[in-house]
Amino acid sequence: MRIISGTTSKSIGEDLSKSLKSQIVDTLIKRFPDGELYIRILDNIQDEDIVLIQNTYPDLNLIELLLMQDAIREAGANKIITIIPYFGYARQDKIFQKGEVISAKSLAKLISINSNQIVTIDPHKEHILDFFSIPASSISAINDLSCYLKDKDLDLILAPDKGAVDRVKNAAKIINCDFDYMEKTRIDGYNIQVKPKNLDVKNKNIAIIDDIISTGGTMAVSINELKKQKAKKIYVSCTHGLFIGDAIRKLNSVKCDEIISTDTILTQFSKVKLANTISRFLKIKKLFD
Ligand code: R5P
Repeated sequence: MRIISGTTSKSIGEDLSKSLKSQIVDTLIKRFPDGELYIRILDNIQDEDIVLIQNTYPDLNLIELLLMQDAIREAGANKIITIIPYFGYARQDKIFQKGEVISAKSLAKLISINSNQIVTIDPHKEHILDFFSIPASSISAINDLSCYLKDKDLDLILAPDKGAVDRVKNAAKIINCDFDYMEKTRIDGYNIQVKPKNLDVKNKNIAIIDDIISTGGTMAVSINELKKQKAKKIYVSCTHGLFIGDAIRKLNSVKCDEIISTDTILTQFSKVKLANTISRFLKIKKLFD
């Protein structure tokens, strides 16, 4: 089995190759003057099992993933395991208003065409795995995030909304502290409201854990609320750190003690590396030999 890492996932792909003691396949990825993508597999992968690792975000990277899968198939590979560290479009996971497309489902259908198995990390909702027409599983980053947060002397772990409470419940068990959730209402893509709720955070060290930090709105509003209630230290953490637009400025302006994310999307905040967890998963599920 060998590894092909797309442009979104070079670093995690290299870590995975070390962890699995598996070689990276040489590829050529470049763009034509009009921006269209050119992909070539340079090594012979005939009859080999391939682990392809690439995000579907932003849009251009989805095209790369689809072209890469097709190139691998055409090059005669045997089995293709597609690892999508961050599955973009997962948040449109149902019809909220008549006439909408379920984007997660549309992408899942396309990604299933040239693959035998999908593995993704903390998808926004687990039911999106059912949208793939091939076996699909998810890995949770909560153990890794919790291990990182363990030496922060935390009193409480918070979910930004009730829907994410299971995630923090697991983290609290690992860290051995309390957990709770905030009451968030999303007004639109950029505006969030957190209802005042007595959280018993005075003089306490708190970590907020979410699956995604996108505009930073959820975290910024949550930090402000915790500060109003006199929390001591505030750590914000997530699996997928998108940090779009002025998210970092927004987070810096409300001042928390640390921003932490995993390396599903590589940024200055990717302090939690997931390659070992992915590699363990592939071995346990016997997807890798
Ligand atoms: C939403 O349900 C997610 O779990 C995150 O809370 C959300 O995507 C964060 O977005 P933003 O950083 O834009 O507030």
